[in-house]
Amino acid sequence: MTETLREPQIIRAQDKMENPTMAFAKDVLKGLSNTPKRLSSVYFYDERGSQIFEEICELEEYYLTRKETEILQRSAAEIILRLPQNTHLVELGSGSSTKTRILLEAAMNRFGTTHYSPIDVSAEILTDTVNDLNQRYPKLQLEAVAGRYEFGMEYILKHSTSSHCIMWLGSSIGNLTRVEAAQFLREVRKYIGESDSLLLGIDLRKGPEILEPAYDDARGVTADFNLNLLDRLNKELGGTFERKNFQHQAIYNVEEGRIEMYLVSNNDQKVEIKNIGVSISFKREEKILTEYSYKYSQDEITTLAEASGFFLEQQWLDDQGWFSLNCFKPQNNAPELRAL
Ligand code: AVJ
Repeated sequence: MTETLREPQIIRAQDKMENPTMAFAKDVLKGLSNTPKRLSSVYFYDERGSQIFEEICELEEYYLTRKETEILQRSAAEIILRLPQNTHLVELGSGSSTKTRILLEAAMNRFGTTHYSPIDVSAEILTDTVNDLNQRYPKLQLEAVAGRYEFGMEYILKHSTSSHCIMWLGSSIGNLTRVEAAQFLREVRKYIGESDSLLLGIDLRKGPEILEPAYDDARGVTADFNLNLLDRLNKELGGTFERKNFQHQAIYNVEEGRIEMYLVSNNDQKVEIKNIGVSISFKREEKILTEYSYKYSQDEITTLAEASGFFLEQQWLDDQGWFSLNCFKPQNNAPELRAL
């Protein structure tokens, strides 16, 4: 008898996106015409950028991954125990699903067969992840969705009747402003039912002496990650950026509670972006904003939950109280959503 190999199952729920290079060009043109100049952090993650990000996660200074892993290792069984029987696990921006495996193993221990649906915009990463998980975990039932989060969630929730736990780990929510974060969760709220829940990894407010090195490490890996955006502009849009003419900067804005990452021009210069047919002028010290990474206080987490139709049901912290894992449950017929 021949061995049955499970086919990697990846559903493509992509909306009819415009040509990605066109979308990138449009966004770059808009962002660099703006005062102050800006580029969106979504563009960090080309193949090289994703590799560098994996390296960031291993850095001594970048405590986020370590702390979240610590919480998961300690609390995975408890987290899973609080979910209804046979909860379908859905993950937003799963990437390589490294940390998620801790939860998956706890779920398989409790439920036996476990449904897991990673959703990621990158079909390539999903294919690798799905193949690897398939091999490692015969009790896992995988239905991966390649596409935007909203499309993925709509697809999954339409096709399964069990309870769902939507996981969004790594403090990826930090790239959204507080208002955008609430808007996004409100959107998620529309897709889910009363017995569903959210599991959110959220980085906490803390002193600049810890936060700034986490985004400006001694080995310069984060600088490389930031500057890689310029390489990408050169490769994909015919830019003439030179790395040596820009500097990586990470500042913690205490009032706003966010890390701000910039690329700072070392001199007065003009840079061409040939495929868009523009020339961009920079003054010495002029900055391009490339990323916000928002940090939350306890109050800001409860406010976020309430502003988006949820309540904070349970929270887990690491020993130092630097990072939080939060279980949000839908508020019963949330009448009026609280304003932020
Ligand atoms: C992937 C958005 C969670 O904000 O900490 C890491 C990205 N940027 N180092 C973060 C990032 C610089 C990361 N997130």
